[in-house]
Amino acid sequence: MSAAPVIAIDGPTASGKGTVAQRVAAALGWHYLDSGALYRVVALLALEEGVDPGDAAGLAALARRLQPRFDGERISLDGREVTEDIRREDVGAMASRIAVHAPLRAALLELQKGFRRPPGLVADGRDMGTVVFPDAVLKVFLTASVEARAQRRHKQLNEKGFPSNIAILLQDLRARDERDSGRSAAPLRPAEDACQLDSSDLCIEQVVALILRWYGER
Ligand code: C5P
Repeated sequence: MSAAPVIAIDGPTASGKGTVAQRVAAALGWHYLDSGALYRVVALLALEEGVDPGDAAGLAALARRLQPRFDGERISLDGREVTEDIRREDVGAMASRIAVHAPLRAALLELQKGFRRPPGLVADGRDMGTVVFPDAVLKVFLTASVEARAQRRHKQLNEKGFPSNIAILLQDLRARDERDSGRSAAPLRPAEDACQLDSSDLCIEQVVALILRWYGER
């Protein structure tokens, strides 16, 4: 029996991959994996348990005992809901710091592959097309200029009632891009066979429609 098909959507922080991937999954009736949420869950536990962000073995041990439950948009861990906590800025920053460690990435590999189930999976992250699902039927590398991404994040935070500063958001996005692209373990880069999509001047509906069209053409 051949494995369920995967659509891999990779790209930098705040490129809109999460929303786009969820909508593509909903349109096809497929499962959805937010791989960044797994790195965020490990980051939250590391912060709470005082594990040093440089302790690769300790972080990998945390990741190996991870049994997160995804229920639609809700994520829980041993019966505790962590959906909101993992979206905190300090948790995102910690996730980006710990994601450089190869042993941690290896510990999360099987967990991620386990999300591949019929009728199909849409997976978003940084290395879905390059490392986790290299045989994905469609690989999309979704980008947007750092300015467009900072504006989007600013708007999102404002809507949630969190004041934010564009200059600081820009600085933070650049630092995360640098860490994601510059690390030696699974750096952020388009797979050789990825379709590149710059969403700076596109709305979500246009991006989703384009991806569905590309999938339909396969
Ligand atoms: O996508 P999100 O911002 O939620 O991911 C949090 C962090 O986890 C990112 O900054 C990135 O460094 C890391 N990550 C990763 N590989 C993935 C998904 C996320 O390194 N597949």
